[in-house]
Amino acid sequence: MDNVSGPVCIKDLETIARSVMPSGAWGYYDSGANDEQTKYSNISAFDEYRLHPRMLRDVSTISTETTVLGQRVKTPLGVAPCALHKLAHADGELATSRAAAGHGSIMILSTYSTTSLEKVIAEGDGNTQYWMQLYVYRERQVSESIVRRAEKAGFKALVLTVDAPVLGRRLVDARNKFNPPSHLHLENFIQDEATGAGSETFGALFGANGDQSLSWDNGIAWLQSITTLPIIVKGILTKEDTELAIKHGCAGVIVSNHGGRQLDGALSSIDALPQVVAAAQDKIEVYMDGGIRRGSDIFKALALGARAVFVARPVLWGLAYKGERGARHALELLQKELELTMMLTGTTSIEQIDKSFVYQPVNRWVRYNKRGELVAKL
Ligand code: FNR
Ligand code: LAC
Repeated sequence: MDNVSGPVCIKDLETIARSVMPSGAWGYYDSGANDEQTKYSNISAFDEYRLHPRMLRDVSTISTETTVLGQRVKTPLGVAPCALHKLAHADGELATSRAAAGHGSIMILSTYSTTSLEKVIAEGDGNTQYWMQLYVYRERQVSESIVRRAEKAGFKALVLTVDAPVLGRRLVDARNKFNPPSHLHLENFIQDEATGAGSETFGALFGANGDQSLSWDNGIAWLQSITTLPIIVKGILTKEDTELAIKHGCAGVIVSNHGGRQLDGALSSIDALPQVVAAAQDKIEVYMDGGIRRGSDIFKALALGARAVFVARPVLWGLAYKGERGARHALELLQKELELTMMLTGTTSIEQIDKSFVYQPVNRWVRYNKRGELVAKL
């Protein structure tokens, strides 16, 4: 761990990114919806789970290898889809792609990338799986053309984001009147006049073109009718929706509240995970994102049943710090911390990490101060 040079933890990267980014761009990356309750609770909820370490278990050799959708990956830590990487660094998604490829896991590319999907995957080296994130537009041929291009380019799965029929209201962006700078283009749409992409605010883009009538019946069935790629539904927080994802033939779900950027007040991802895992009954894979800032957070999510986890803001902060090297640095910090947590908990493989390693205090919605007095019931 100590041979990692540069910022020593994700929090340090956040501080650097905040100081180097223009305030509008910083605000867009950082903000959650409304009072940001969900954004903050994504992070603080991890603190409610304590580790239950085992000793004397020969941790001289450990491996973070696992499988995702049946394919081997070096680590269960991947990159979540985020719009507009070029807000952080001129190399944008190309830098992220190279960082992810070096790291050897999964990169989910946002539909709203500032580099075309073909160029992004061309930076891969075969160690990394690329999944394409989708929003579905009323003009279905716009979405269909992205699916076709993703299939042709070699993306291994489609990630349908279902928690954003409309964008959440981010007050920071409203105050800043934030619009992506005009020199950045949503390159996946550049041929597509239909979406008006690149010329409007995100809010307008969603409102004018997103298909708000999308449902389990008309959305998933439509996607299945045009592709054989596995479909992963992103933005699931309940057992009911997990059961529907199974019923509709999805390959997996990502437990997520969009980093607290959509429905403020929604429960934190780590709190939602156990009910989703229980409902999935190993019939589909369960992944999660939201609030992961430490390797021990990854460990907790895996212990509670996630097959893999994804990070968004930490990678963007890394990009803002130093492009490809910075994004790689963010992933490496988390990877090393995961390995350290495994050694200190007495686990040598991902398969060994189960819920016996997580301790959940009984009264977890009750807070005490240092003198043991009750200060808050949450
Ligand atoms: C996102 N997220 C997101 N999700 C998605 O499905 N499509 C997208 O285009 C974006 N864009 C986006 C931009 C920015 C700036 C952020 C911060 C997030 C949500 C993202 O994939 C993920 O669900 C959460 O951000 C994960 O939480 P952390 O790691 O940021 O705490
Ligand atoms: C966001 C969208 C683009 O969270 O998903 O900003």
